[in-house]
Amino acid sequence: MRETPPSPASYSRRSRSRRRPARPRERDCRLSERTRRQLTLVGMVNPPTHRYAAAWRHPDSGRDWLRARSYVDIARLLERGGFDLMFLPDALAVPEDALGDVATTLASGGKGAVTLDPITVLSVVAGATSRIGLGATVSTSFLPPYAIARTLASLDHLSEGRVAWNIVTSTTDAEARNMGLERIPPKTQRYDRADRVVSQVLELMRTWAPGALVQDERTGLFADPSRVARTPAPRERAAPPGPLSLPRSPQGHPVLMQAGASPRGMEFAAKWAELVFVAADGIEGNRAIRAELRERARSAGRDPDELRVCAAIQPVAGSTMIDATRTRDALLSLIDEPSALRSLARLMHADAGTLRLDEPAADFLAEHRGATGSDGFEDMLAAVCRREGLSVRDLALRQSLDQLTPSPTGSGEAVAEELCEWQDAGAADGFVVTPAILPGSFEDFVEHVVPELRRRGRLAASEAPDTPSAGARPTLRSRLAAQR
Ligand SMILES: Cc1cc2nc3c(=O)[nH]c(=O)nc-3n(C[C@H](O)[C@H](O)[C@H](O)COP(=O)(O)O)c2cc1C
Repeated sequence: MRETPPSPASYSRRSRSRRRPARPRERDCRLSERTRRQLTLVGMVNPPTHRYAAAWRHPDSGRDWLRARSYVDIARLLERGGFDLMFLPDALAVPEDALGDVATTLASGGKGAVTLDPITVLSVVAGATSRIGLGATVSTSFLPPYAIARTLASLDHLSEGRVAWNIVTSTTDAEARNMGLERIPPKTQRYDRADRVVSQVLELMRTWAPGALVQDERTGLFADPSRVARTPAPRERAAPPGPLSLPRSPQGHPVLMQAGASPRGMEFAAKWAELVFVAADGIEGNRAIRAELRERARSAGRDPDELRVCAAIQPVAGSTMIDATRTRDALLSLIDEPSALRSLARLMHADAGTLRLDEPAADFLAEHRGATGSDGFEDMLAAVCRREGLSVRDLALRQSLDQLTPSPTGSGEAVAEELCEWQDAGAADGFVVTPAILPGSFEDFVEHVVPELRRRGRLAASEAPDTPSAGARPTLRSRLAAQR
């Protein structure tokens, strides 16, 4: 057992007892002390139907997305390229339109038409890699805490301490129906349940004290019962659950990851998250959210530096600007207006036949507020549409190209410069790289951008390949802590 992570209670204990020197205020983030910190890099992996709507039919996209081998290849590429985490988003239903029909999503290969189970994929990847973190999305809205705790603890053991749990509450009625409920509960209820579920999962993961697994062949003692406890009984139950049928995992509990930027979502992140996935409007939007998350974490008694805030980007990198622009033009050439409009109508639960194409997109979004289930995501769409003066037609095309995700485009040097600028401005501690093409966009990023980030000291130098005698490897949590 290598590590016991800080519990939220110990966060507050620590911040009371070990006062750090006064920290610079958020707007002083350009200080050189800030720029020396390293970036966290997360690779988002969900082929073949993801943010770039034409991904599945782009000639350079891999076609083997139902084979274990392709995920192993992607993971090894990310590992070689200094990524900290391979992250799999998830949804528990094929996205429906306003009438509950899945035809648009299926026929177009829309985002979410196909999602492999993240834990299954990452279990395969765990055995074929040695360093990269494994980020699994698991919803708190349907499964009992014990099921979540055992699955994640198993993967943390099998991967020797490399798991991150992307905690989501799910957003749609279709997901609720697939998981045995009539409809999805309101968001506050979901976040309240998420608080309870996370707390119980962590309690279950602590039921074996470090060293409780004895395995003393001489005395015949396998595990010391005095060091294995049940959890406190939840308020509504008489009997306490637990213990978990697994010793404490290498990280104690997975690195906790979260996305969701409504005030309640940020409150949840400030309480639990170690890594936050943010999709906001450019440098300014991300900076505002990061500052708010850090302030909320501080108010919750935590050291804000325990929170790594990672901004979503969809980079297009090449050997030169001309090369990258050519790649971007090729992406655009596969997007046609009628299918982009159908896909936007599906996303926002609008009638595709009645869209007013020249209407300001911000008005259209306001009319359909709440359709996606994510306030944070819809706030970002509205902010970009207002700032850039986009029409409904423009929004549809951009939505199909990159979901309005910032898309640094150019040579490796130019993209690296832009990412450093984000970090120096206090807009991000790292990035969730969402690839247009898999594995091609990751290959371009690793070939062109990563060496430039390393040259600037923003990423660690490449590590020597692990050898069997290398001993205990650092856990994901300790890698992230070293970047602060
Ligand atoms: C950038 C981003 C990524 C997300 N990824 C997922 C996901 O993979 N699976 C999921 O069920 N929900 C996902 N969500 C939804 C959030 O977990 C959350 O349930 C939703 O955003 C509602 O919370 P909010 O209104 O606080 O944003 C994501 C949200 C954002 C903003």
